[in-house]
Amino acid sequence: MKLKPSLSTLKPYTPNPQTKAIKLDANEANYNINSYTIPSDITLNRYPDSLATSLTNKLAEKYNLSPEELLIGSGSSELLELIVKSFVSPNEVVLSLTPSFVMYEKYARYYNATFETFPLNQDGLLNTNAFLSTINQVNPKVIFLSNPNNPTGTSIKYEDIKTILHSTKALVVLDEAYIEFLNEDASMIDQINNHPNLLVTRTFSKAYGLASLRVGYLVTNKYLINQLKRVKTPYSVSQLSLSIATNALNDLNATNQYINMIKKNKTTLKDALSNINMTPLHSDANFLYLSTSFPLASYLETYDISIRSFPNHAYRITIPSDNELPILLKALKEIKNENKHNPN
Ligand SMILES: Cc1ncc(COP(=O)(O)O)c(C=O)c1O
Repeated sequence: MKLKPSLSTLKPYTPNPQTKAIKLDANEANYNINSYTIPSDITLNRYPDSLATSLTNKLAEKYNLSPEELLIGSGSSELLELIVKSFVSPNEVVLSLTPSFVMYEKYARYYNATFETFPLNQDGLLNTNAFLSTINQVNPKVIFLSNPNNPTGTSIKYEDIKTILHSTKALVVLDEAYIEFLNEDASMIDQINNHPNLLVTRTFSKAYGLASLRVGYLVTNKYLINQLKRVKTPYSVSQLSLSIATNALNDLNATNQYINMIKKNKTTLKDALSNINMTPLHSDANFLYLSTSFPLASYLETYDISIRSFPNHAYRITIPSDNELPILLKALKEIKNENKHNPN
């Protein structure tokens, strides 16, 4: 059986093989940032709590929300896909930015939607007025905005997001997977009842260092949550994952320490890259994005370090841990010392 025609050119999502000692290609935490104990009271013979009651209540308390304004999913990925699955009919438009998170296009295509993109400026910033014109032209049903944006690390200004929300009837999905590295206060979670078309997604995969658990959450008004609940696959998050994620919210010390380490190492790495004329964009996330004609990814592979390559000689480097940073800095310094190339 062949894939349906609309998916015939789709390529599998292929992360880099996990073979390098230092893995800076997937924006994960690079060590276990907390020591989690496996809860002993989990009954593996039973399905998990499909309503994720404890985690939902805990998040509702944290953000001063009603539990009915929250939905837990198997990573924010499940929730992003659920939005398209629930609200976008074939040939309707899903709009995003470019470059941005590659999965938005896939989700649009799974459901035969038309995927349109609007280009970010060279500096990774958004020309909001021009974007508003595109919104008018293409009349999207859903707009995905990764904020901060993967892979550039840049953010859209709070006021600009509000302007976008006001100027369209489309559902605006603010994917805040990396917002903790910017500032919790920059989140739009508290705006969901001021804008009926705003949905915010968050994840435990990044700042909480729990990518393996697959836990994410969506925050929006009760009406939209109820619609989404009618479509969502039940039991998509294991009880083990729900339980560990709930516990992670009880102790934010490890998360805060990790975020501080990322901020510190980001400054050091940014300076080192700028020193060899590979100045990255300003980043509000746990990675840096730069363009260079130097074959940076293959060079770093010889140091057992993997980073992510993008079209047009662009690279994304996840910020290393304290242990990894000196190894990366040494590798970068040797580019300069050995004058192996003329960095542009
Ligand atoms: C912008 C963005 N959104 C969502 C995700 C998905 O995260 P998860 O499904 O682990 O919550 C990622 C993962 O890299 C991401 O970069």
